[in-house]
Amino acid sequence: METLHTPRLVLRPFEPEDLEDFYAYAQDPEVGPRAGWKPHANRQETEKILRGFIRDGEVWALWHREDKKVIGSLGLHRDATRSVEDVRMLGYVLARPYWGQGLMPEAAEAAMDYGFARLGLALISVAHFPFNAASRRVIEKCGFSYEGTRRHALRRYDGMVLDECCYSMTWEEWQALRGSNGPGKG
Ligand SMILES: CC(C)(COP(=O)(O)OP(=O)(O)OC[C@H]1O[C@@H](n2cnc3c(N)ncnc32)[C@H](O)[C@@H]1OP(=O)(O)O)[C@@H](O)C(=O)NCCC(=O)NCCS
Repeated sequence: METLHTPRLVLRPFEPEDLEDFYAYAQDPEVGPRAGWKPHANRQETEKILRGFIRDGEVWALWHREDKKVIGSLGLHRDATRSVEDVRMLGYVLARPYWGQGLMPEAAEAAMDYGFARLGLALISVAHFPFNAASRRVIEKCGFSYEGTRRHALRRYDGMVLDECCYSMTWEEWQALRGSNGPGKG
């Protein structure tokens, strides 16, 4: 995975030194549960996940240029609901002090450009829980199309059964959105 640059962020692979920055938002009870995961109870939990990020190479650390720290993550994951190979699912979280500044749309658009132009993806999907209006706004701002709501999609770590609002963008839609000057597929 390549390092990507946006006006306020650098999207780069995670490093072992990111542990404290990662733990700072991973233990926040307002962050993980909105994305479906349990807040981390200690640094050991964060370290285990961090090792997985480094090993699997599908998640970028969001490095804040001005504050010089990692403030979130964004991944292009396998979409477990689709068997087609050239499809990825977008997932993201941001540390709470940085919410509401348009940082995630900025990061997501860079990742989408990379996914379509560099990886040659045919489709990128993304989903949010019905209560997550902030994530819905990110998805809308990025130009995804609403597919529908998958009811009783999953049981979260706390036992809650949640619906998922599902969206996607095809390569053709991305090209139309970015204009005809965008790079060609493949
Ligand atoms: C979802 C999330 C990534 C949004 O990132 P962001 O960079 O704050 O996105 P934006 O700045 O574009 O704001 C999106 C919306 O958040 C809402 N918002 C803005 N400031 C906020 C704040 N301080 N607190 C809560 N929500 C806020 C607004 O509705 C905003 O929409 P608007 O721009 O139309 O007003 C971030 O809220 C987050 O990390 N949440 C917890 C994890 C999560 O939900 N991950 C996604 C799982 S699908």
